[in-house]
Amino acid sequence: MAACAIVLGSAGTIKAQVTLQSNNVDEVLKAMTLEEKAMLVVGGPAQRVPGAAGATREIERLGIPASILTDGPAGVRINPKRENDENTYYCTGFPVGTALACTWNTALVEDVGKCIGNEVLEYGCDVLLAPGMNIHRSPLCGRNFEYYSEDPLVTGKIAAAYVRGVQSQGVGTSVKHFAANSQETNRMNVNELMSQRALREIYLKGFEIAVRDAAPWTVMSSYNRINGPFTQESRELLTTILRDEWGFDGIVMTDWTGLRNTAAQIQAGNDLMEPGEDAQIKDIINKVQSGALAEADLDICVKRILQYIVKTPAFRGYKYSNTPDLKAHAEVTRRSATEGMVLLKNEGAVLPMGNAKTVSVFGITSYDFVAGGSGSGDVNKAYTIDLMQGLTEAGLKVNSKLANVYQSYKAYQTSLTAAAPPRRGWFWGKAVLPEVAVSRPVIDVQAQESDLAIITLGRQAGEGTDRHEDGDFTLTEIERQLITDVCNAFHLANKPVVVVLNMGNVMETTSWKAMPDAILLAWQPGQEGGYSVADVLTGKADPSGKLTMTWPNNLIDLPSSANFPNVRPAASRDVTKHAEGIDVGYRYFCTSKKPVSYPFGFGLSYTTFAYSKPVVKATKEGLTASITITNTGLRAGKEVVELYVSAPAGGLVKPACELKAFAKTRELQPKESQTLTMNLSLYDLASYNESTQAWETASGKYTFSFGASVEDIRATAPYHLSKPYTVKCHDVMKPNMPL
Ligand code: BGC
Repeated sequence: MAACAIVLGSAGTIKAQVTLQSNNVDEVLKAMTLEEKAMLVVGGPAQRVPGAAGATREIERLGIPASILTDGPAGVRINPKRENDENTYYCTGFPVGTALACTWNTALVEDVGKCIGNEVLEYGCDVLLAPGMNIHRSPLCGRNFEYYSEDPLVTGKIAAAYVRGVQSQGVGTSVKHFAANSQETNRMNVNELMSQRALREIYLKGFEIAVRDAAPWTVMSSYNRINGPFTQESRELLTTILRDEWGFDGIVMTDWTGLRNTAAQIQAGNDLMEPGEDAQIKDIINKVQSGALAEADLDICVKRILQYIVKTPAFRGYKYSNTPDLKAHAEVTRRSATEGMVLLKNEGAVLPMGNAKTVSVFGITSYDFVAGGSGSGDVNKAYTIDLMQGLTEAGLKVNSKLANVYQSYKAYQTSLTAAAPPRRGWFWGKAVLPEVAVSRPVIDVQAQESDLAIITLGRQAGEGTDRHEDGDFTLTEIERQLITDVCNAFHLANKPVVVVLNMGNVMETTSWKAMPDAILLAWQPGQEGGYSVADVLTGKADPSGKLTMTWPNNLIDLPSSANFPNVRPAASRDVTKHAEGIDVGYRYFCTSKKPVSYPFGFGLSYTTFAYSKPVVKATKEGLTASITITNTGLRAGKEVVELYVSAPAGGLVKPACELKAFAKTRELQPKESQTLTMNLSLYDLASYNESTQAWETASGKYTFSFGASVEDIRATAPYHLSKPYTVKCHDVMKPNMPL
């Protein structure tokens, strides 16, 4: 480190010049002028990597490099082409978050994270703005595809695996959006009003798990308010809970907000303001000079940013190649997509269909597959394999007369879009083409010429808007007619119909699911999607995904619908009351025993599994629960085991059961067994008591239920806890108005 110059600070103080090293953060902080400190907490343009979302600013004098922040979460999002440059910079489009979570396979998610982390590194970026961890409070949230589940444990464990994978490559993550950003409507201003218990147990728990298990480098605060303040201005959230209670030691950055109260953010512990405007720098300087902001508070944020910078590849001077191994990553995305697919129905075991079949492929989305959602979660990938390509590669014969009709329709629709590009622009991704009606005589011919029909239904959604009920959550009239006519025609000819759902979110199935023989939920499966679907349909891969959210009969069955803007449009847009508290998803349905279309944790396989008698016993750290799973069917497959716990009566009122652990077998051959062991701490069993402001695990008799879904419990074991367990917390983030 060389002290080779001096600089005059704004207050006229003389500042020595040092160069940032990994061990001299305090010295550099001392050497910084007020202007430099203000610059470091305000983001700037991502010059080094076109298309990246943002950056921290370079301060050359002190050897502080710019660090580059890029979206996330389904892969790296940068511009694929650059001016005067013949090279391309495509990134791998992985399955969306929901699909990854439905694998329930943390090792696989970690592998996906490693590939994405490698692309972050090799494309010259430092932090991936992912994973998205908000809770699926309503199927109408436009961004659910980026998120994992209605359940915080699944969310936290999958996110932790993803963070570990990405960060193993020497780059950072930004777990987002902290917190309670479960709707897009009025996301910049809405006050998410909820009890302290619901906040702690449902909306913060996943973040807590990810922070404690995987130490993400950064956290992104959300656009919305919670119980009054904006999250980025809430010291109770960003310091008391995140840092003091959970031990987070990285930096917090804003979402891409723009101008808000700079002093409040710094005092709250929001270290970095993105995307960053010069006006914010001036404002911070003025506030320090006028005494409205203590320089010591600014110093805390600056020091944390310096500690972050010294971890980055930019600081290490990493020589990135711009040529990550996209071929190898394509193989991982293909494999992870198949494992996240959920087989919802398979009557008469029509699937797997083998590959010696002639298939009629209906539905425009079959020919224009949706790899991922829109907005900042959309990846600029080199290609998307559609279902047609997937089926053809798998050796199936696709009826070309029908395929040609759809291809012409697609060309027509594409030319219309080219003539009048949608007003919402490139940011909003590729829309699903409108479905086209197919007349019954055409379908009748197909039923004669083919062995089987596939109908793909597609949906697209993303950042900035929530979904709608009619024709989005529900079928459109054309889709309903298509399913009805294809099922009638093919069933008359004694031939099966398979529906493939190519979407990132939940839809209504109750009114039509009786018609087709099989339903495969393919999600938005990334760039290799068509191959992955064909792998499952033909039986090359066994479906082993399970739902990480409830599929309700109706929207109105969900307690959140009473207070979700797109279900109750008349409700206030300024406040979203979480009147349902912790009754989110299966917690509500399993307690109220209200029927659903497909329950949380559900998913079929091509094989069957037996569950042994389980063992639950105390350990020094808490307890372990073990069970042996045996493949009792005729094909190889993997099973997800879900451990639900029911608490003793008399303590806090709790849901009838709650997921407390899960595990997945390796691929088991017929007759093969594997013992799964799940470790739990007493803290894992706790609920939040608002009257004592503590996490409490009551003593008494617990029931441990081992399920193939929340409604399909295969084995139970009692457990007696003799002493209660308590962890005291701070009484913070109280609702600022009546619920
Ligand atoms: C999104 C974030 C994203 C950021 C940068 C925001 O609008 O909410 O998820 O990381 O933009 O693109």
